[in-house]
Amino acid sequence: MTTNEARQRIEQLTAEINNHNQRYYQEASPVISDFEFDILLQELQHLELKYPEFAAADSPTQRVGGTIAREFKTVQHLTPMLSLSNTYSEAEIREFDQRVRKVTGDEVVYICELKYDGVAIGLRYRNGILVQAVTRGDGIQGDDVTANVKTIHSVPLRLKGDYPEEFEIRGEVFMPHKSFNELNAAKEEIGEPPFANPRNAAAGSLKLLDSSEVARRKLDCFLYFVIGDMPFDNHYDNLMKAREWGFNIPLFIRKCYRVEEIAEFIGEWNTARHDLPFDIDGVVIKVNSYPMQQVLGFTAKSPRWAIAYKFKAERVTTKLLDIVYQVGRTGAITPVAVLEPVQLAGTTVKRASLHNADIIAQLDVRIGDSVFVEKGGEIIPKIMGVDLSQRDPSAASVAYPAHCPECGAVLVRTPGESAWYCPDEDGCPPQIKGKLEHFISRKAMNIDSLGEGKTEILYDSGLVSNVADFYDLTYDQLLGLEKNYPSTAMVRQRTVKFREKTVENILSAIEKSKEVPFSRVLFALGIRFVGETVAKKLVAHFGSIENIANASTETLLEVDEIGVKIAGSLTEWFALEKHQNLLKRLEIAGVKLENTEPAAGNGDVLKGKSFVVSGVFSRFNREELKELIEKNGGKVSASVSSKTDFIVAGDQMGPSKLEKALKLGVRIISEDDFAEMLSSGTLPEKG
Ligand code: IVH
Repeated sequence: MTTNEARQRIEQLTAEINNHNQRYYQEASPVISDFEFDILLQELQHLELKYPEFAAADSPTQRVGGTIAREFKTVQHLTPMLSLSNTYSEAEIREFDQRVRKVTGDEVVYICELKYDGVAIGLRYRNGILVQAVTRGDGIQGDDVTANVKTIHSVPLRLKGDYPEEFEIRGEVFMPHKSFNELNAAKEEIGEPPFANPRNAAAGSLKLLDSSEVARRKLDCFLYFVIGDMPFDNHYDNLMKAREWGFNIPLFIRKCYRVEEIAEFIGEWNTARHDLPFDIDGVVIKVNSYPMQQVLGFTAKSPRWAIAYKFKAERVTTKLLDIVYQVGRTGAITPVAVLEPVQLAGTTVKRASLHNADIIAQLDVRIGDSVFVEKGGEIIPKIMGVDLSQRDPSAASVAYPAHCPECGAVLVRTPGESAWYCPDEDGCPPQIKGKLEHFISRKAMNIDSLGEGKTEILYDSGLVSNVADFYDLTYDQLLGLEKNYPSTAMVRQRTVKFREKTVENILSAIEKSKEVPFSRVLFALGIRFVGETVAKKLVAHFGSIENIANASTETLLEVDEIGVKIAGSLTEWFALEKHQNLLKRLEIAGVKLENTEPAAGNGDVLKGKSFVVSGVFSRFNREELKELIEKNGGKVSASVSSKTDFIVAGDQMGPSKLEKALKLGVRIISEDDFAEMLSSGTLPEKG
């Protein structure tokens, strides 16, 4: 075959297969057998492999996958992927409407849509070709799952008509019930644990590294949001246009002019959702007009021009078989109900959280009771009550254990707190392991190569019993460690082994963790009540571990958001000699125990300068930025004027501010420029 013949054959096969796909998927009237189809496809795959330069950007071979990724590339979102504020109450929808009308006046039009229960995805198209598909991730950056998304037949690889040159469209990848049932049946057959619900299945499938495996999962995708230079100035018209370009825009969209119509839409779907071939968990209400959306703007997390109404949880009755007690990383005991398996909202429920001793007493649940179980948005279902008419008269009240189920220590309870605790934090295995796991977790020191049970192995082998021990590990100690996990009802037997590459990765991740900023180190220490936000506040205020350790309760209480509970926990933690020793060892290891970010503030770099902060930021939040400006001697004002020196602009900066700034020649800087200004201590030239 000559090169020219190959090119022609590839074109011919591409057109032919696309045509068969169209008949099969869109028209449900195939004209050839699956076998004949496979032969055509194989021929094309074979030719494309030999002549990749002739493979079309939208070649049908991509639908069947084949690329096997080693890992997903992390990609920054061009516009942050925000979430929506949620409500379960129609009264709050009315309040939302009133808030909106106050700003927009009465001519507002709403678009009501379904809230698809899947995985958010952003698709980027350039010149009509799908170039990138990114998961939401943390909203700022996500995973590049393009090869996987290309296997979804309803996602167009090439657009039709007069689409913009470059734009993004967002939506939800989900698994229809039919695919979900098929997948779980197949899993059960090979003895693998089934997915709990279609959302987990969709999320798990999108994260598969072998795209041909994803192709077999038969995912689907609805799109509901466009970003870019669009032909219309409103959401609805652009969605309808996007449908013409070939996108799978859902049909279940309604324009509403009055809040009563929104309530009707919600009411209808609250019933009709059970007949849909996929899961929805609510309804999304959006202000249609872009200019109005812009005026309404955003909070730090979500747009003010949209709201999600979530359907109330579904409820079933089942039998309480037992209560088991789990020990967490802080020693807190969580009672968990073991239930007779029951179907609830599309999943099999076997366990439910009982939260604490008070709840057990309040519900007065007894082993053997018939209980009402509910599942709302959360993953773990809840016991809502007992069907007393079914109670066995001989059933005894639950006696809450007095001893730790893991280490036998006598449990304690601080007055005013709901949980019982195992006080033996240095002798109780799940507490020690929990602290180690927390330390290495992504939001803390991010030593991810130690995940998946590896810390447990280090603990079991006696190498690591506190977080400072990580920094003493050597190559020779780690190489060859292994552990066999016997099979359980949920997972197959497996072996975790520390091979050369694993050990190298672990040691380099530990080394890299020495660069983690102090606020995350403070969070990683796992001091009770010191979460991410509190850690950031403490660091912004005190700057170093030494200052925090030496701070009196009064000084601690001066910090925004620090109350007596947190202050008490900090004082108690630092008072212990073993913690002082731990910090010494971390310091010697080179872990950051003071702030090196440009946040310490109390200088006067910005003296006499006036700032306006506008938009959504990724590195700081808006309040932090304002605080930093003031701490460094600058002034913050709400509106742009001739006196403004700088605007720190994030994404979605208000258009009126932008216009004014441009008119007045005010310097617009990014949050990175701002951080640079603080760390270098110099102001950029005005220009
Ligand atoms: S709009 C800026 N519309 O719900 C707002 N989201 O908490 C963009 N979702 O992250 C989102 N159906 O994953 C929108 N019709 C719909 C939706 C929808 C489901 C998901 C989406 C989003 C989350 C909001």
